[in-house]
Amino acid sequence: MMRILITGANGQVGYELLRALSKSPPLQGEGLGGDGFGFGFAEENPTLPLRGRGSEANTPPGGGGVRRFSPLPPGEAERLVRNHNCEIIPATRSGRLEGGSACETIDLADSNNLSAALDRLAPDLIINAAAYTAVDRAEDEPELAQRINGDTPGFLGAWAARHGARVVHYSTDYVFDGDATAPYREDDATHPVSAYGRSKLAGEFALRDSGARHLILRTAWVYAARGHNFLRTMLRLGKERSELRVVDDQIGAPTPASLIADVTAQVIAQWCGGEQTSRDGTYHLVASGHTSWCGFARAIFERARYANLLHRIPEVHAIRTADYPTKATRPAWSVLDSTKLRDTFGVDLPDWQAALSRVIGEMSSR
Ligand SMILES: NC(=O)c1ccc[n+]([C@@H]2O[C@H](COP(=O)([O-])OP(=O)(O)OC[C@H]3O[C@@H](n4cnc5c(N)ncnc54)[C@H](OP(=O)(O)O)[C@@H]3O)[C@@H](O)[C@H]2O)c1
Repeated sequence: MMRILITGANGQVGYELLRALSKSPPLQGEGLGGDGFGFGFAEENPTLPLRGRGSEANTPPGGGGVRRFSPLPPGEAERLVRNHNCEIIPATRSGRLEGGSACETIDLADSNNLSAALDRLAPDLIINAAAYTAVDRAEDEPELAQRINGDTPGFLGAWAARHGARVVHYSTDYVFDGDATAPYREDDATHPVSAYGRSKLAGEFALRDSGARHLILRTAWVYAARGHNFLRTMLRLGKERSELRVVDDQIGAPTPASLIADVTAQVIAQWCGGEQTSRDGTYHLVASGHTSWCGFARAIFERARYANLLHRIPEVHAIRTADYPTKATRPAWSVLDSTKLRDTFGVDLPDWQAALSRVIGEMSSR
């Protein structure tokens, strides 16, 4: 049995990870709530049996009523499931999944809570999708950002190193200053220009220094059909306004959380299947190509109109970063080179426009 702990399971990436790795029907039982996670797979297949240890796999050592997932074979997690008998353990800060079901409670800012949870859950793999992601607020709360983003990866790594477990951790384009003109490679010099970026870079160093088997996946410009993100903000504003002003001099690769989750599932299926440490390390994981926020907004509106999510396309005016001051400085050039990930794990990273069409298509078919 391989036990996979996912922190931040209500976040954009955490939620999609749970979906990619679990594909399981909602569990029924005391304290589990009746509405389930709302996965299409589950709704279409309400009577599918659970794999693994059956219902006992859904009961934590300390008591009942906490949701666990035993994954089913289809989809991107197929190889992982085939090679390992997996138990997926979602954790959130509140102890509740979206929809109200109970799950493990893990607050990354509370090291006592974290330590006790790790000892009790004994994961073989920790996927740390939780993070302090309020980029502007981090300028006012650098200590909290540092504790969650900078210190916790080292704590997770130290626990994993002591117990022979592994850690997959997400980092960001914000570890770079954005002064480059070519896509950043993994070993390019880092130089964060915000408190958030500094905290995430500290987390990378802490995990590397912990001695744990690890993967650090740097991603960028994350969006999803749910949660707080640029896509959802644009769709809301597009309904409310006929004109918008959007920054045109920051360049990056919009990357769906579902793509990050699917690629993570493929990568860990291979990585956890091998004992050699040569593939451990840092990788860039973003959609291919690049655009500006303004280009992203226009692409969103075109596709959303085509998919009938909007009745008209608002006019988008390009502005400069200087015209839209924010508390935190953002890198002007956020393009990451994902060649190393493709070459090492053979994963497909579609163009950002194709990825966007897929997400909007899924939103319109709901
Ligand atoms: N979003 C982006 O554009 C972007 C870009 C580059 C890299 N990344 C990285 O990608 C990863 C996933 O980001 P995301 O977009 O999925 O972030 P997100 O949607 O903001 O989710 C972050 C999750 O972390 C949880 N969290 C925050 N503080 C916590 C704490 N003290 N204890 C436990 N959980 C806590 C939040 O819980 P609550 O729901 O309770 O607040 C939230 O569910 C992060 O490492 C992030 O740094 C994101």
